[in-house]
Amino acid sequence: MYLSGKKILLGVCSGIAAYKSAYLVRLLLKENAEVKVVMTPDAQHFVGALTFSALSKNPVATEFYNKHDGTWNNHVELGLWGDVFLIAPATANTIAKMASGICDNILLATYLSAKCPVIICPAMDLDMWKHASTISNIEKLNQYGNKMIEPGTGELASGLVGTGRMAEPEEIIQYFKNYFPQSSPQNFSGKKVLITAGPTYEKIDPVRFIGNYSSGKMGFALAEEFYEQGADVTVVHGPVQIDVSKYKNIKTIAVESADEMYNACSALIDNQNIFIAAAAVSDFSPEEISAEKLKKENTPDGLIIKLKHNKDVLAEMSKRKTKDQLMIGFALETNNAVENAKKKLKTKNLDMIVLNSLQDDGAGFQHDTNKITLLDKNNNTRIFELKSKREAARDIVNYIYTFSHA
Ligand code: CTP
Repeated sequence: MYLSGKKILLGVCSGIAAYKSAYLVRLLLKENAEVKVVMTPDAQHFVGALTFSALSKNPVATEFYNKHDGTWNNHVELGLWGDVFLIAPATANTIAKMASGICDNILLATYLSAKCPVIICPAMDLDMWKHASTISNIEKLNQYGNKMIEPGTGELASGLVGTGRMAEPEEIIQYFKNYFPQSSPQNFSGKKVLITAGPTYEKIDPVRFIGNYSSGKMGFALAEEFYEQGADVTVVHGPVQIDVSKYKNIKTIAVESADEMYNACSALIDNQNIFIAAAAVSDFSPEEISAEKLKKENTPDGLIIKLKHNKDVLAEMSKRKTKDQLMIGFALETNNAVENAKKKLKTKNLDMIVLNSLQDDGAGFQHDTNKITLLDKNNNTRIFELKSKREAARDIVNYIYTFSHA
């Protein structure tokens, strides 16, 4: 997961090597990069936009506007979004247009408005590659500060043998690994971190449950950051839509109910250095679970379900806290946020609490962003801007490091 959190804007031009770009998207996602694709209209003859949107899990821009509903595809925003704009394959035609500032499609408009570094992966037949105009266009792009991953030599789509083959996806990944040097400090190497994430489901009957909107994104973002900073990470998570199989180096334990989450954490807590409760654990569960599906006709006056309190996973783990352990909670509040968070910090005997208020736009459940305030037991408060959950996770992890070394 070398490219965690990196935003790669991929431009795909009309060349047979576009099929390699589909595989490249998979490899980038495996490295945990975020990918958005912009295509020239003709590129779609080689590989459909649907392939790229399915692989990247993001919409693909192919036109300046959507022909069905007239909405505008904002190339300026796309250009600002990427940490890098990779154009692969970059055809002789697109290279020529880039060199002369022509912008008659959305990929070229994105190129002209992009503020991030641009890297091209040329792909063309050997004679086109050797042509004086291509050589001078590449030279121009070089002068503009654009970078190039050289094409390879071998058999080309034309059947001729020579230089012009787009760099292999694996080579491009390797290029990125060198391009984005691993910058995370290994602050947590040798430390064990246990994180709860996602919602819990409390069964009512075989088909119904009490749940909540938690996505688990914040908990997994923390897991990624801790892992990158060298920790040995375990996530106990409720039912989430996240593909947890991609986390090869993070242990994941799937549970459903608050009780199961408690049991899983309880078995692990004594060996942990840090416990972070990012899960939205249901505070209540039905006192009785019906063995059969509850029927309308059997409940003519409606249905009253008696709920009992669940164990508070964080409070229970905290009771077992040793002097070397750190306990960190979350507080999701709708009103009197700071006051309530401070109360939870005290009553649950925590070292630190991460507050997010549902009153802040873009914060809380389901969003990819979060606006957090950190409060620690020494009465320090730190307010952060609205950020991606991945960036917020880095702030939290860095704060934990500073706090534990104060
Ligand atoms: N938490 C937990 N187990 C529970 C309830 C909460 O581990 N049964 C943890 C959450 O993961 C979070 C913290 O406790 O880290 C605070 O959760 P929150 O729901 O905000 O607070 P509660 O203590 O449940 O209080 P209330 O819902 O009444 O605000």
